Amino acid sequence: MINDLTKNAHKGKIIQKRNFKEKIAMQLKFDFNNMMKETLGEKEGLDFQLFETHKDLLDLAYSKVMDNRGKGWQEWTNLPFYQQDVVKDILETVKRYQDYDNVVVFGIGGSALGTIAVANALLHLRHNELEKNVRKFPRLYVEDNVDPERMQALLDVIDVRKTVFNVITKSGTTSETLSQYMIIHNILKQKLNDDAKDNIIITTTKGKGTLYDIAVKEGYKVFDLGGGVGGRFSVLSPVGLVPLALVGIDINSLLEGAREMSEACFSPENSKNPALCTAFLQYMSMRKGKNISVMMPYADSLKFMSDFYCQIWGESLGKATDNNNNIVHVGQTPVKALGVTDQHSQIQLYTEGPFDKVVTFLEVEKYRSNVTIPTAGDYKETEFLQNKTLNELINYERKATEFALTKYKRANFTITLSEVNAHTVGELLQYFMYQTAYCGALLDINTYNQPGVEEGKQATFAMMGRKNYENKLDEINSLKKDVRYII
Ligand code: PA5
Repeated sequence: MINDLTKNAHKGKIIQKRNFKEKIAMQLKFDFNNMMKETLGEKEGLDFQLFETHKDLLDLAYSKVMDNRGKGWQEWTNLPFYQQDVVKDILETVKRYQDYDNVVVFGIGGSALGTIAVANALLHLRHNELEKNVRKFPRLYVEDNVDPERMQALLDVIDVRKTVFNVITKSGTTSETLSQYMIIHNILKQKLNDDAKDNIIITTTKGKGTLYDIAVKEGYKVFDLGGGVGGRFSVLSPVGLVPLALVGIDINSLLEGAREMSEACFSPENSKNPALCTAFLQYMSMRKGKNISVMMPYADSLKFMSDFYCQIWGESLGKATDNNNNIVHVGQTPVKALGVTDQHSQIQLYTEGPFDKVVTFLEVEKYRSNVTIPTAGDYKETEFLQNKTLNELINYERKATEFALTKYKRANFTITLSEVNAHTVGELLQYFMYQTAYCGALLDINTYNQPGVEEGKQATFAMMGRKNYENKLDEINSLKKDVRYII
């Protein structure tokens, strides 16, 4: 299992090419040379022999994920393979809304971040500002907060009668999403009476939760996200597919990319399985005290992939106990950065600060636009930029940052997308999900719960006066606050 990877690890090769003859269809490339001791030295780098010495652990983690594929909380693994009918229903439904001006998503956390990441990656970067005849599809607003100013600002710029609202909540009980629904339901009723129901699509767990009951009574179109698909693993369920299809994104290609990445992640061989391999490298890095994981795309289109990653990595792996109830307090703190913007902000800390980070670069080979830097007068100092492209500049800046980090012995690895399209984005999402699943299995924790988040949700219910939460309110009120410590 380990040997061919071990042999090639230090030769500057990448997983996909090493197995070229066996043809893995995925289009992403993974280069983790700068995680290894050959590049970073003994102290900061990882020894490839670790794959051998931890073979039992790796095999166990692999089986934990693979044996439960499609079962329990791992139903997300089935999404790219078994949704033909769902996709048909979605594509049929969205036809009704093609002439609408706006799509508004009400949802939070896993019910919003995947949509934001994919939409930003695949729509024109100024989609909402384009003229309707160029845009062709409605504008998109994903409202994942309950800041009253933000709600008011949205209402100031949209005509609700020409807007379809996709209300998304897996539990059907989240306060933020329910209140957004209640506000919009009320406004739509006033403007459209009984026709209001046509402007609302609900995505929730069928048969469960307050929102489902409301949807049935009001006669809304409902999409089911399936019992065993957790919020942060739901982007390829109707949670993401409905709003993405509403704005014209090719959801079939997205799923196709996810299928191809899944095939790679099914491999028991580290050398062919990027998710298992990099999950193990992150796991070993944590054991070396590298408890911060920085996600740094060099593309504005991928900026919100970092938000998606931060949620899935942070909420899944940050846990107090392992599966045997031992106190472990594990998890890497995910941090978002954007290349090149954050070269002028965070990179100083990354190169010279504590040795506690692993930086993941997202590199794009071919951008969808080419911009040449023209000559702007006879100035010697600008000659090096003349007739080059912004494409070259951004890519050399990434390489330069990679060089600087590596020179200062800072662990980093690079994921390369041939270009940003629905297929590669589908691959990337599925890779993030599998990498998280494998890393959770290596840490032997429950990857799929979020007791810390639930605690806050319950406390909100209590403070907002929800019935049957009186004990929680007592608990909150019993927490002592000392006035001496308030300035
Ligand atoms: O990943 C998760 O489970 C959470 O981030 C949820 O998505 C988030 O709390 C929203 O929950 P719900 O979809 O039930 O409204």
